Amino acid sequence: MGNSLTFSFGLPVRLVPLAKGLATRLPGGDRLAAGTVKVRRPSAAKSYAIWLKHLGLAVRHGMEGPPASLVEIGPGGDLGVGLAALLSGADHYRGLDVVPSADLAATRELVGALAALFAARAPRARPGWPETEHLGDTGAFPRHILDDARLARALDPQRLAALARLVGGEGGEDDEGDEDGGGRTFAYVAPWDGRGIAPAGTVGMVVSHAVMQHVDDPRAAYRAVAAALAPGGYATHQIDFCSMNLTRHWNGHWGCPDGLWAVVRGRRPYLINRLPLSGHLDLIRDAGTEVVAVLARARSGGIPRRDLAEPWRSLGDDDLNCAEAFIVSRARG
Ligand SMILES: C[S@@+](CC[C@H](N)C(=O)[O-])C[C@H]1O[C@@H](n2cnc3c(N)ncnc32)[C@H](O)[C@@H]1O
Repeated sequence: MGNSLTFSFGLPVRLVPLAKGLATRLPGGDRLAAGTVKVRRPSAAKSYAIWLKHLGLAVRHGMEGPPASLVEIGPGGDLGVGLAALLSGADHYRGLDVVPSADLAATRELVGALAALFAARAPRARPGWPETEHLGDTGAFPRHILDDARLARALDPQRLAALARLVGGEGGEDDEGDEDGGGRTFAYVAPWDGRGIAPAGTVGMVVSHAVMQHVDDPRAAYRAVAAALAPGGYATHQIDFCSMNLTRHWNGHWGCPDGLWAVVRGRRPYLINRLPLSGHLDLIRDAGTEVVAVLARARSGGIPRRDLAEPWRSLGDDDLNCAEAFIVSRARG
């Protein structure tokens, strides 16, 4: 659609997403709403890169090593990050998503490709942001975290075969997850209600990647993370503050009045919650977890300050210009 129609009559949102949001409220709009959910295709390379980044940055900021148990919020189209954690030696994984979009059969197919990447100690193919070079991870394989002895145990052929069976299990909405003879568990909970994550104080690490900007009730989610983490457990969240092309400016969602935003949202399963970086940090701290590190990527070319809508008019420059953030937090104890 040409630019003349893309921006409508001075409205801060694009026409197409506005029309889509409206249409989701019409009879039969449910299917359209479901169709607005887009997740990436299952990919061993991407899952590997995401996991090594979260693991590397958590360890850089004090986590002792790979966790025994991982919870992932919003895994999307596959559970490859969970699989990568198991191939790093974890024994328990639980993926929680508001939309059941993960392809479990495709996830099982990733076992071999992921194991090959670990066996080759492959560098991350496309490191992306945040770059980890300046943090002491050269972008090559993090041997200081995943040493040969650990990988020999984790990639043992019998263990790999057991993992493939585990991942290929029924999965679905099984709250307990599937368990293999080795005591490992692999669970996918979708739709997740956004509250309970796991029994209190039991999880070594929680990750979310490009998810927390979508969560409707981030306060409840961060509280659930804090409750689930074992004392000293880590949570890492990479958060994208861009408007998903819904607006003319990359951060134009902060120029959209609430009423209009509700129309764009329509009955989509989720959109973006418009919470700025400082809001996420406040909620993480309010939940009782300690913020250990914040990496923020600034971006220019955003919405002029005069065009901000309430309640965003007093947004600080650090929030307004933050396109992406990576937050490392830790449970006390
Ligand atoms: C942009 S995708 C990211 C998927 C994956 N983490 C990745 O990096 O490819 C956002 C994901 O967040 C999930 N999501 C949105 N709201 C959520 C919520 N309240 N609780 C859990 N997951 C949610 C979506 O269903 C989707 O899978």
